[in-house]
Amino acid sequence: MSVLSVRYQGEIAVVTLDNPPVNAVSEEVRKGLVALADQLDEDTGVAAVVLTCAGRTFIAGADVREFGKPPVGPHLPDVVTRLEQAKKPWVAAIHGAALGGGFEIAMGCRFRVADRSAKVGLPEVTLGIIPGASGTVRTPRLAGVEAAVEFATSGKPVSAHQALQSGVIDKVIDGELLEGAIAFALEALNHPLPQPVSARPVETRDEAFWEKAKKQAARAGYQAPLSALDSIRFASRHSFDEAMAYERQIFLDLRASDEAAALRAVFFAERAAPRPAFVKDTKPRPVARVGIVGGGTMGAGIASSCLSAGLNVVLIERDDEALARGRQSVERTFAGAIKRGKLSEEGKETLMSALSGSTDYADLGECDLVIEAVFEEISVKRDVFKNLDRHCRSDAILATNTSYLDPREISSALKDSSRFLGLHFFSPANVMKLLEIVPVPETADDVLASGFALGKQLGKVPVRAGICEGFIGNRILKRYRAEAETLVREGIAIADIDAAMRGFGFKMGPFEAQDLGGLDIAFLQREGARAEGAEIPETLGDILVRSGRKGQKSGGGWYDYADGDRTPRPSSAVSDLLAAQVTNGPQLDPEEISERLVRALAAEGEVILTEGVAHSASDIDLVEIHGYGFPRWKGGPMFWKDQRLRS
Ligand code: 3HC
Ligand code: NAI
Repeated sequence: MSVLSVRYQGEIAVVTLDNPPVNAVSEEVRKGLVALADQLDEDTGVAAVVLTCAGRTFIAGADVREFGKPPVGPHLPDVVTRLEQAKKPWVAAIHGAALGGGFEIAMGCRFRVADRSAKVGLPEVTLGIIPGASGTVRTPRLAGVEAAVEFATSGKPVSAHQALQSGVIDKVIDGELLEGAIAFALEALNHPLPQPVSARPVETRDEAFWEKAKKQAARAGYQAPLSALDSIRFASRHSFDEAMAYERQIFLDLRASDEAAALRAVFFAERAAPRPAFVKDTKPRPVARVGIVGGGTMGAGIASSCLSAGLNVVLIERDDEALARGRQSVERTFAGAIKRGKLSEEGKETLMSALSGSTDYADLGECDLVIEAVFEEISVKRDVFKNLDRHCRSDAILATNTSYLDPREISSALKDSSRFLGLHFFSPANVMKLLEIVPVPETADDVLASGFALGKQLGKVPVRAGICEGFIGNRILKRYRAEAETLVREGIAIADIDAAMRGFGFKMGPFEAQDLGGLDIAFLQREGARAEGAEIPETLGDILVRSGRKGQKSGGGWYDYADGDRTPRPSSAVSDLLAAQVTNGPQLDPEEISERLVRALAAEGEVILTEGVAHSASDIDLVEIHGYGFPRWKGGPMFWKDQRLRS
């Protein structure tokens, strides 16, 4: 059966594309559209064509799975042009999302209508490429240069309402989309047709505009947004045909780039993450009501995340004061969302009304899942789980958010450990996407599956981790920090190391990040282990903490900070403190520094893979990207290392 079908409603031909899951434009779709345009041009009974899609969305773009292979004709730019040149006007009827090649096909249609909830955008830069089928050439002709720059360099889709305002669609249909689109087409036939987009003039902008846009695009840290801008700029100064050739060349060059390969790998890994093979066929337990024990930094963040996903939350604290603080933290998070225009006042009220609080564990009786986020002390946690055992339903899932404790020592406090698992969120839990899921040997399959289902519901990237100190992420972090300290011992300046890692694409270097989070947490953990007899050599961080330098919160850590200023300043006090530890070896350039550190990340990743703590290299990459700020256009440390080996 073909992915394209046609039926007739009077003089309107309705073309339906049905290519699950997201109607991506594959070779078959491109061929089919050209054949239908030819067929309908010759059909004297047809006055106009409505292009609609089956399933959850309009065309979500070119088929990304074809990007690793040589391009095969007919090419998408030619398909778009063929639709534009059709003798009968085509009307794109958009529901779900018209993205990338999907939006470009819609621009080849003479008209575009969309239902209220539709979205339109050019997300190609998020895949390391630029639009390759006239997105940077037709959009400025349709909506102006400024809108085109925003679409193509940010990659962010806009709502149907915004699309109407910027002129990329002609109408928002309130009722049933197809009916509305047919009525729109019939009405349009009563008037002279508008010019095809390619024939419309394009405005020019002055140098100041392009300079500003370039600065903005450069902030992304990788090539594609700058190239998208370059292509729009070219399109604003050249003929349509010249601009199309220019765009196509950049598209093809970038499509073959390392950055695009990395971003594609991350795209597919993220989509595969919530449904790994080991839970695919297991039905998760239903979760509608979540209990959270501990309303501190993590508990409040997890509560906000659960509420935002539509879950009911019961927050448990030690006393009324702590409970009030937890509630206030959740409120502050939502107030921040209102300030950023992401939430309305009524929306906040609705979310807060789904939050209840208590100091009595008996109020967790109706919860389907309880997440513990109390102090990181084994005795405190075991007590909490004994209470949960007493008060929770016997089928309720019980989870810990511990960072470093052995989950088996916590679960053994329960009568039935099959309902237990680790759900390791990252701070701030309402923002960070990573969720490490840590089963104990007894964890039931459907409990594990429920962890992944929860991750998906919360919009997180869930990754299974085995039991070891620090699970995947914090264990790799430890190795990373140790290697960074080794560089300092070799005589590389702290500021040079941080700058090199920013140059690589991290938002912060390893030392700046520690100053922000505080050096004392890891210090106390090492001290605790030493007290229990572990032989842990003195780290440079230990030396700093012992002399009162805990990071920004104590006025200084690896750097000095002026009062009320978060700008790190190289510290002579630190140089003095560490002088005896430092030998002056050869200086390294920024690439050599970042290479050393990323190799350390990948090396620990290899060990973790061999031990079975991580299931796949791409899981490790997701952990680093979503929990630790690794630049996604480098694919994660494991992808990066493999790419290095290939080149
Ligand atoms: N090509 C191939 N497969 C795609 C795809 C694409 N463009 N977009 C999504 N898929 C696949 C996913 O891999 C996933 O497959 P799986 O079920 O086997 O894991 C499945 O479709 C569903 O995807 P999601 O889980 O993301 O589904 P959602 O319903 O959550 O989201 C969506 C739907 C908003 C359309 C989202 O999938 C999306 O944003 N897709 C990417 C859109 C995109 O980047 N388009 C541009 C492509 S490049 C291009 O068009 C170049 C052109 O200019 C020439
Ligand atoms: P926190 O100190 O901010 O909050 C802990 C809260 O638990 C406090 O509000 C306290 O009153 C409450 N509490 C203590 N005992 C309790 C009990 N018996 N019953 C009810 N409430 C109780 O600590 P934070 O940072 O939120 O950490 C919590 C857990 O999350 C720890 O296990 C930690 O290792 C883990 N974690 C922390 C991360 C972070 O960056 N802070 C990141 C990931 C995990």
